[in-house]
Amino acid sequence: MRLRPKKNRQKRLSEVEEYFAVLTDGRLDTEKSFDNKSNPIYLELGCGKGEFAVRLSRKCQDVNIIAVEKVIDVVMMAMEKAKREECKNLKFLNLDIEKILEFLPEKFADRIYINFCDPWPRKKHAKRRLTYPDYLEKYKKLLKNGGCIYFKTDNFNLFEYSLGTFASSGFVLGNVCFDLHNDEILNKENIQTEYEKTFSAKGFRINYLEAWLQE
Ligand SMILES: C[S@@+](CC[C@H](N)C(=O)[O-])C[C@H]1O[C@@H](n2cnc3c(N)ncnc32)[C@H](O)[C@@H]1O
Repeated sequence: MRLRPKKNRQKRLSEVEEYFAVLTDGRLDTEKSFDNKSNPIYLELGCGKGEFAVRLSRKCQDVNIIAVEKVIDVVMMAMEKAKREECKNLKFLNLDIEKILEFLPEKFADRIYINFCDPWPRKKHAKRRLTYPDYLEKYKKLLKNGGCIYFKTDNFNLFEYSLGTFASSGFVLGNVCFDLHNDEILNKENIQTEYEKTFSAKGFRINYLEAWLQE
């Protein structure tokens, strides 16, 4: 996502700073980040401007949500949205998922959401895909046993590739669907992201899967 640098960034960030997750000694501190620390935790990777995280937060008020985004001006817009919607159970981290294990505790997440990540279509860039096996190994360390990754993309080639990497990394696949918006049952619970709205409006089918980490 390319954006012009935002004017007044420091001022705007200071107005939403309570939406940054709290780090203690450089690591996520869930107790200080959330009022109800015993709630399950959902993690969204590459949250963009925060449409999905904000709607998930409104829908699941008995869950704590951490949304990660590497572009500061993008996460700032997501935080402003969270503030407008008074999302008390949603916090943000501005970091590169590559380095996620340095900041997040092991086995803390009940769910991980990866929505419309960059497809990196060229083979030589495969390592940058968020479903490349090295990334999946990181997510395994963050997910509780029995936890699940929810993955959506409009890009069929990335979806096909990811079916293979999730399976070969030991995840158990469920609810694999090549046309989410036309699946009566799965679509009922679906929260559309910004990219999802744009690409489905252009006629792209939305692919969806759940990848479970066994107990
Ligand atoms: C194609 S957009 C999708 C945004 C949102 N999930 C949606 O569906 O509308 C991908 C987002 O992931 C972020 N992103 C990509 N690679 C990342 C990484 N390694 N670490 C953190 N964020 C990343 C990008 O900056 C961008 O905002």
